[in-house]
Amino acid sequence: MKKFDVNLTVEALGFDELTAAERRLVDTASDATYRSYCPYSHFHVGAAILLDNDEIIAGSNQENAAYPSGICAERTAAFYAHSRYPEAAFRAIAIAARGTDTHWTAAPVAPCGACRQVLLEYENLAGAPVSVLLVGDGKVYRLPSVRSTLPLAFTEF
Ligand code: THU
Repeated sequence: MKKFDVNLTVEALGFDELTAAERRLVDTASDATYRSYCPYSHFHVGAAILLDNDEIIAGSNQENAAYPSGICAERTAAFYAHSRYPEAAFRAIAIAARGTDTHWTAAPVAPCGACRQVLLEYENLAGAPVSVLLVGDGKVYRLPSVRSTLPLAFTEF
């Protein structure tokens, strides 16, 4: 039997350690949480995607009385970004979340499996790593790519 490791290096940063572009993306994702529609979970999630045309597309989670019909913030943003600018490559995504109170989650919230799969497709289309910024209270986790969040991912590419 052979064994191998799949490694993920996460950088834990203060806001002051982010680049100006990253701070803007984090602020846009945080702002998007205020446009979340989450009457069932009361969990407000925002996502912001930086494209290579320098546009930022934001999205929030949108829930529904028929629960599975709702959608996460990341997919709201990703699907709109690619609908609006089908030629533009994704460069980075920031994700932020608040609970029932107004505080950011203490630990950065990571995308669900379905969102990772969707984001991976756009990373593959981009042909370059899409950096992932996970926002928590007073800290940001920076991951080098979507691929790194989904070991042994299913992909046709
Ligand atoms: N949610 C997101 O928007 N993104 C995630 O990465 C995880 C979960 C949403 C879905 C649902 O509206 C609420 O958070 C609670 O699961």
